[in-house]
Amino acid sequence: MTTLIDGKKVAADIRGELKKKCEMLKSVAFDVPGLVTILVGNNPASEAYVNSKAKACDEIGMRSKVEKLSAETSEQELLDLVKKYNEDYSYHGILVQLPLPKHISEDKVIEAIDPRKDVDGFHPVSVGNLVIGKDALLPCTPHGVVELLKRYKIPTDGKHVVVVGRSNIVGKPVANMLLQKKEGANAIVTICHSAAKDISLFTKQADILIAAIGKPNFITAEMVKDGAVVIDVGINRVEDASQKKGYKLVGDVDFENVSPKTSFITPVPGGVGPMTIAMLLQNTFLAYIKMTNQKLN
Ligand code: GUN
Repeated sequence: MTTLIDGKKVAADIRGELKKKCEMLKSVAFDVPGLVTILVGNNPASEAYVNSKAKACDEIGMRSKVEKLSAETSEQELLDLVKKYNEDYSYHGILVQLPLPKHISEDKVIEAIDPRKDVDGFHPVSVGNLVIGKDALLPCTPHGVVELLKRYKIPTDGKHVVVVGRSNIVGKPVANMLLQKKEGANAIVTICHSAAKDISLFTKQADILIAAIGKPNFITAEMVKDGAVVIDVGINRVEDASQKKGYKLVGDVDFENVSPKTSFITPVPGGVGPMTIAMLLQNTFLAYIKMTNQKLN
């Protein structure tokens, strides 16, 4: 019997918990955390993400602001805006929506963010702290994966986690999180990627398989051990004439054929996806607590 991991419900639970904490903060500190999101250009997908982040803040009683800049904004103008929010203590989180237009260096912009406000967890200081096991704001999607494992009481201690994909946003951070000698981690971690001659040699060994490749239905039933836990981080658009939009969203895992072999599996949509914004709100809350020295947590 496989258990479907309901990321939508877990994300709603987390947002509910944070809403209560924000209400409590409002009554004791007369203040709430604030998140500023910066969007450069008018990529419709990015705009939709930014709007849903702001809406999620509003729903839990967090302050939020969206800065929408034209696609012609110079790198220096963006760096100046980041600096302004670094110095503005009514905002505890700064998120610059990626991708940025080609003429702006994403690395430079990420490095300009005060690491204490780095709610994406992309700053090299945050990445370094994660790797050496120090307190850090953790990148939202991989942190969402770890939180799902925790909330479904899926043991990781001594288990073999195989991560497929080595991106800086998911593969590398999720591997580092689960590797730490901590509760909810302490796993034996393998990262594999496109250079593997036969990737199934790795995936078949996984007690917990994390797919973050970005290829629709890449993980097939033959690649998965009986009883494995499968976490699908992929969100891919595939053409589907039966849908009004002309496409549907599928993960990196061939859900239909893989799920009967698993003990737990995340669906797409409704698995890892909804966790990203929930963890962003949590990071903003944590950044606030650390910056203001509030004891509430
Ligand atoms: N673009 C797509 N996902 C993300 C994300 O998690 N953070 C930022 N900053 N940009 C993104």
